[in-house]
Amino acid sequence: MPARRRADGVLELGGVALVVLARDPRIGTPAYVYDLDAVAAEARELDASFEGAPHLVAYAVKANSAGPIVKTLVERGCGIDVVSGAELRLALRCGVAPSKILYSGVAKTDDELDLAITLGAEGIGAIQVESVEEAARVAARASTHGRVARVSVRINPGVEAEAIDTHSYISTGHDEAKFGVPLASVGEALEQLSRTSSAKIVGLSSHVGSQFTSTDAYLAAARSLFSVAKQVRARTALAFVDTGGGFGIDYGEGCPVRPADFIRATRRLQKESGLDDLALYCEPGRALVAAHAVLLARVIQRKIAPPTAASPERRWTMIDAGMNDLMRPALYQARHRVVPLEATSDAKTRPYRVVGPVCESSDDFGVHDLTDDAREVAILDAGGYGYSMASRYNGRPLPAEVFLKGGKVDGFSARAPLDAWVEDRLRAGGS
Ligand SMILES: Cc1ncc(COP(=O)(O)O)c(C=O)c1O
Repeated sequence: MPARRRADGVLELGGVALVVLARDPRIGTPAYVYDLDAVAAEARELDASFEGAPHLVAYAVKANSAGPIVKTLVERGCGIDVVSGAELRLALRCGVAPSKILYSGVAKTDDELDLAITLGAEGIGAIQVESVEEAARVAARASTHGRVARVSVRINPGVEAEAIDTHSYISTGHDEAKFGVPLASVGEALEQLSRTSSAKIVGLSSHVGSQFTSTDAYLAAARSLFSVAKQVRARTALAFVDTGGGFGIDYGEGCPVRPADFIRATRRLQKESGLDDLALYCEPGRALVAAHAVLLARVIQRKIAPPTAASPERRWTMIDAGMNDLMRPALYQARHRVVPLEATSDAKTRPYRVVGPVCESSDDFGVHDLTDDAREVAILDAGGYGYSMASRYNGRPLPAEVFLKGGKVDGFSARAPLDAWVEDRLRAGGS
């Protein structure tokens, strides 16, 4: 369950009062706090929507790669979608079977391909080939190792960018995107793969974007994918179709569809397309994790600028979390709700622009109603593309992370010490 306000005004997540964590000197702020039980429940609900049909929920680990999160999802039966050799190694260390790993990404290096091809007896579940050129490289690497690589062709269904109701930076299924094999080249990619004995086509996939708050674009892409799959399977036995991730969450502006709604609608389409005997794969990232975490920050100070002839009074609340900790607002104008950790219902609030300490104008979390004396805040729904995108820009240590389970803290890692960055930079160039 996402963070909620108790009757006494205290914000809690997973049954834990967040103010207690924010004031715990062993942890420090900024700190991500995750509710592992809620993440597990999210995976359970999605799993149930397949109603026993063959499927794989391959969690897109790029959304949140914290060990406890990944292990929780693997224990719930999820596979993993990776986009780098490091993510692949992480997935293995978290206990996922190689056969449940999908490897997406437009420019995998030879070393990364080699790892995916040579794992276990048969390599990973599928290398998702994203271009004709990559198809040839995968076959060549597999041949070098005397292996047969399991491959799925990720098609770019060419869904019009305007039809994809999401920010252009997280829209991947249109003609100009670097992702996936364009429809016009799918035949060539398949041809290439079927000519070699070093690759076996096991599936077809697509992923057209992220944070969809309606099923329209997802289903448009699935329709296109299924129509290709129908033609392909006449010549090549397929094991699965993979309709990707992208299920949206409610960041405060509403999201009337649940991940299960995407799956139920996709399965209907799959049946109509006569592909019901194939396993249905999906690759959700955000939807499994985002709503079940917050980023805690302390208020450092407020700043008030008196009105001018051109503008009314301006008010800023400056917090100790910045764009380096949560990049989504700066990267693609994402909006997260920012709320106090303690709030009485009669407290007088005013609109404040909430900003971080980083020396960039884009270090800005937007305008939020806060009291004049708020001490700590939570940035809500921060579990997806939060820590995994964090950097140490401006010499800022990576944030702390706290994992909740069974209504209490199950583990935490404190914020890195300030000196770690200094030492690291001094070591640059071997000095
Ligand atoms: C290939 C692929 N699959 C899955 C995902 C996960 O998307 P989301 O977090 O929106 O579910 C992404 C995200 O960019 C992706 O690139």
